[in-house]
Amino acid sequence: MMIIEPKAVHDFYNGVMEGKPVMKSRKLLKDILTAYENPDKGEDPERVMYEVYCYEAEDKIQQGSLSWGLTVMYPECVNGEFNFTRGHIHQDTSCGEFYFGLAGEGLLLLMDIEGNAWAEKISPNSLHYVNGKLAHRLVNTGDQVLKVGACWPSNAGHNYEWVEKHPFPVRVYKKNGEIVCI
Ligand code: 6PG
Ligand code: NI
Repeated sequence: MMIIEPKAVHDFYNGVMEGKPVMKSRKLLKDILTAYENPDKGEDPERVMYEVYCYEAEDKIQQGSLSWGLTVMYPECVNGEFNFTRGHIHQDTSCGEFYFGLAGEGLLLLMDIEGNAWAEKISPNSLHYVNGKLAHRLVNTGDQVLKVGACWPSNAGHNYEWVEKHPFPVRVYKKNGEIVCI
């Protein structure tokens, strides 16, 4: 029997995901600026808002394949609005997803196809199930980096256009040090 080294590591509490199969993507403010209510023109458009690490199945379209990911969100605000992910619903709405909090504080915004929205609090060790029929977006509401792990079917796909056409009806702001949802 051949024993091999693990293909990747995920340092849950102090680090990120590393290894050959791990892909990393980076979202800059300029990539998501128009999603904010008041695009912060005075700020550096090159600043990093969040990073996504992903260990994807080799055969993505094979039914039952899984992807494992990590989202790292910086404690940034854009004109008082907390840093949020672009947000999406899965292309294949039969595909759900698990999220789990690893560091920092945040919110998981969820929205059904009728536009009803609600949120779950995220903190280290919190566990969240996202039904495939729900659009989902992360918000970093803390002063620290928010780290959220995730596992989802590799064939789920990301439908960003749907969320652009049906924006989340709620925005999350920092006002006088408080978290305010409007
Ligand atoms: C997924 C996950 C997750 C998500 C990131 C970034 O389906 O892949 O929900 O990895 O992609 O948190 O969020 P956006 O894809 O909405 O930018
Ligand atoms: Ni998703």
